[in-house]
Amino acid sequence: MIIDHDVIILGAGLAGLRAAVEISRKSDGKVNVGLVSKVQLNRAHSVCAEGGPAAVLREEEGDSYDLHAWDTVKGSDFLADQDVVYRFVETSPMELLLLDHWGLPWSRRDDGRILQRPFGGHSYPRATMAADKTGFFEMQALYDHLIRYQNFTRYDEVFATSIIAEGGRFCGLTIIDMATGEFQVLRGKALLIASGGLGNLYGFTTYSQTVTGDGQAMAYRAGLPLEDTEFLQFHPTGLVPSGILMTEGCRGEGGYLRNKNGDRFMEKYAASKMEVAPRDIVSRAETMELIEGRGFTGPKGLDYVHLDLTHLGADKILHRLPLIREVTMKFLGLDPIKEMIPIRPVAHYSMGGIEADIDGKTKMDNVWVAGEVACTSMHGANRLGANSTAECLVWGGITGAEILKYLGTNPKMPDVPEDRAKAEEKRIFHDLMESEGNENPYQLKEELRQVMDFHMGVFRDGQEMSAGLDKVRELKKRFKNVKIEDKGRIYNSNLVNALELENLLLLSEAMIVSALAREESRGAHARRDFTTRDDDKWLKHTLVRFTDDGPKLDYKDVTITKWKPVERKY
Ligand code: FUM
Repeated sequence: MIIDHDVIILGAGLAGLRAAVEISRKSDGKVNVGLVSKVQLNRAHSVCAEGGPAAVLREEEGDSYDLHAWDTVKGSDFLADQDVVYRFVETSPMELLLLDHWGLPWSRRDDGRILQRPFGGHSYPRATMAADKTGFFEMQALYDHLIRYQNFTRYDEVFATSIIAEGGRFCGLTIIDMATGEFQVLRGKALLIASGGLGNLYGFTTYSQTVTGDGQAMAYRAGLPLEDTEFLQFHPTGLVPSGILMTEGCRGEGGYLRNKNGDRFMEKYAASKMEVAPRDIVSRAETMELIEGRGFTGPKGLDYVHLDLTHLGADKILHRLPLIREVTMKFLGLDPIKEMIPIRPVAHYSMGGIEADIDGKTKMDNVWVAGEVACTSMHGANRLGANSTAECLVWGGITGAEILKYLGTNPKMPDVPEDRAKAEEKRIFHDLMESEGNENPYQLKEELRQVMDFHMGVFRDGQEMSAGLDKVRELKKRFKNVKIEDKGRIYNSNLVNALELENLLLLSEAMIVSALAREESRGAHARRDFTTRDDDKWLKHTLVRFTDDGPKLDYKDVTITKWKPVERKY
């Protein structure tokens, strides 16, 4: 069955919802939107965001666009495109104020103005927040606003399997309605991919189980290049052993990091910023403390250091960090008002993604991307905390407006070649589901995550990464022999898990190939065999393209409009 919409939005997290709102309000509810989500609406991983969006709200008190832009460019280890960064810093304040008007209960100062707290790498306290549950409130405010309009159809618990494109243009999305198992095609004049990150290719991660890079993998298979995939951010404070995020807001509010001797070790690594240095630096510092024996022995090899909030006092923890306390109490029986929290670096964010221009437009005429799935080159080699949900809002708004402009040119509804949809249905429901193989997809996924944890961690080297690549390729071969035990159609999570795993395998390979190529250390890509940044050879973005023989590498220039790279010290 083919269902038509003017525009299809794949992903209903912050970026997808923001785009849906923009399209609805600017077209006065006249454009027909299909909103596709693999989970129930408001279960997208965006609801897990704890810290909030960064924005310049206090020019009269000393903040400025230039300062936010400089912090972001320096934080990126000079790989961010500076025109994109400027567009971001100039747009993000308005996005926050829109959410304010749409009912988001921002935390406030005593004078009634929106409260902002320090975050890593920012030289002004510019992370706004709703206590430490900001993503939840951002999503809620957007959804509450969206339902004023009647122009969108929700496809909840619908898993997209492929993008059908012809002649460099998108024509349809193949989907499985998980509740019925029905295979369908959504046809649209335009597509926005806003499907989030890919962090489930790591075992120790802050991501929900649902974050499996499906949008990136589909776009990659459909011919769109992925950019800067080697840059995977490790957040410094993942709770041991679950990996749950302990927001950077903990350190923004004044929390300390201590090794087993009780020392605030950041003094050695970033004396001026201490605990609120950028994430790549803090994660490397923690890892060095562990390697040199100044950490604690943790369960399942998860050695750790301490996040100390005990000096902040009950009032601050209860009002500014209530979720942190709730989580540590529930998961560890530990009260952070009295005890220190065991933490270590944890896979958290992908700086790379589907290559896009400053408007979020991809190399396909009628396809845009927004949020973590996208690489507009805004974060370069290391994203600053609080620049992510802000990015989702900014490019959700921009891409929504761009898509409307495009629809204003009256493009035709494309034809979807029937054989392509049929071939995809056969690939899934015959070739994969009826395979007589003997490999268990859950076992393969577990092995993949171990490979990535071990071979693509905070520190890397060529030999280790090559060995990791061999293992991923071996897992890809074994995947051909995978067995789907559940032969039913209704909520077949066994099948969906296998499809997700196929996506993760493809992306892991692309990521390691780019990481091996980049023979330098920059931002989150820290190599033991190439320990310094090499601007002569590597001040450029990597691109990977899908071929049947594996990822093909290419490069493109970094846009530098204002600041030439200098030594990055904090
Ligand atoms: O630490 C945090 O709350 C995470 C924020 C972010 O990734 O921007």
